[in-house]
Amino acid sequence: MAPQRRGAPKAPEGSGAAERRRQSSTKSIRVPRDVRKKWLRAAVLGSCTVLAACLFWGSLGGDEGITEVLAHRSEILPGRFIEVPCSEDYDSHRRFEGCSPRKCGRGISDAVITRDEARRIRSIAEKGLSLGGSDGGASILDLHSGALSVGKHFVNLYRYFGDKIQTIFSEEDFQLYRDVRQKVQLAIAQAFGISASSLHLTKPTFFSRINSTEARTAHDEYWHAHVDKVTYGSFDYTSLLYLSDYLDDFGGGRFVFMEEGANKTVEPRAGRVSFFTSGSENLHRVEKVHWGTRYAITIAFTCNPDHGISDPTLT
Ligand SMILES: *[C@@H]1O[C@H](CO)[C@@H](O)[C@H](O)[C@H]1NC(C)=O
Ligand SMILES: *[C@@H]1O[C@H](CO)[C@@H](O)[C@H](O)[C@H]1NC(C)=O
Repeated sequence: MAPQRRGAPKAPEGSGAAERRRQSSTKSIRVPRDVRKKWLRAAVLGSCTVLAACLFWGSLGGDEGITEVLAHRSEILPGRFIEVPCSEDYDSHRRFEGCSPRKCGRGISDAVITRDEARRIRSIAEKGLSLGGSDGGASILDLHSGALSVGKHFVNLYRYFGDKIQTIFSEEDFQLYRDVRQKVQLAIAQAFGISASSLHLTKPTFFSRINSTEARTAHDEYWHAHVDKVTYGSFDYTSLLYLSDYLDDFGGGRFVFMEEGANKTVEPRAGRVSFFTSGSENLHRVEKVHWGTRYAITIAFTCNPDHGISDPTLT
């Protein structure tokens, strides 16, 4: 279909336009003070706007000192991998050859999970989290253990709802969750050159929902810098699947790899998978969310089969 012109039809060039131009130029000669005032007002308004924009920009990222963006919100990355030297964190754990990191780094891909899959999996998170929610900071839903934030505590969704859980989640929801986990696992294995079957899902693997309300308890404080392998010894590879769009759904809330000299950010985008080796080579934090709601899933893998957990099932 040919594009339709929606604008007002152009006035034909001719005496009319010339007449208007003449009139306006006469007017400006007759009342120069008026025009000066108008210009002054425009200039003041303009500089106010610029000042406001600067202040707003400053409030968004001023405290961060960020120097490099690994993945912009508007980019669609087929896959980006940045290798970083492994820390010694893995030495104090049992090594599983062909799985425990020898090559460390970070990857980001928008080609593993589709936007539609992200939308559907986000609706699982919305359903589950609508049953609870923390008093502030981050709320979590763990379909493996059943843990759900409620107020200042957690409840076990499965114990609490019993068989009624089947009226909340469907078999398709759980199938989608397993498919997504499988795709992420394959992407990690490929990026690090290991076999996908040597990776085991581990806990905690969970949905998170973050808004701008201040955290009331320490476990809802999501913004501190940390090393996953220090926090959770079983983690070898951490992944995040984002389910909302940075600056469309929320502000703040970027993921930051913290390094001397240059912090590196990943801007969340629904369907974007970001993964990395879990040791201190990947010290990271999440910026505070300033507005809106940010959804994501953290999916963790271990090389130690003893620390493996199975996919959640509805029955
Ligand atoms: C990295 O971020 C932290 C806090 O978010 C900040 O204190 C530090 O100065 C930043 N580093 C650089 C090099 O910008
Ligand atoms: C953030 O979420 C909590 C529930 O976890 C809710 O009580 C609060 O009102 C929300 N805040 C905003 C600003 O929407």
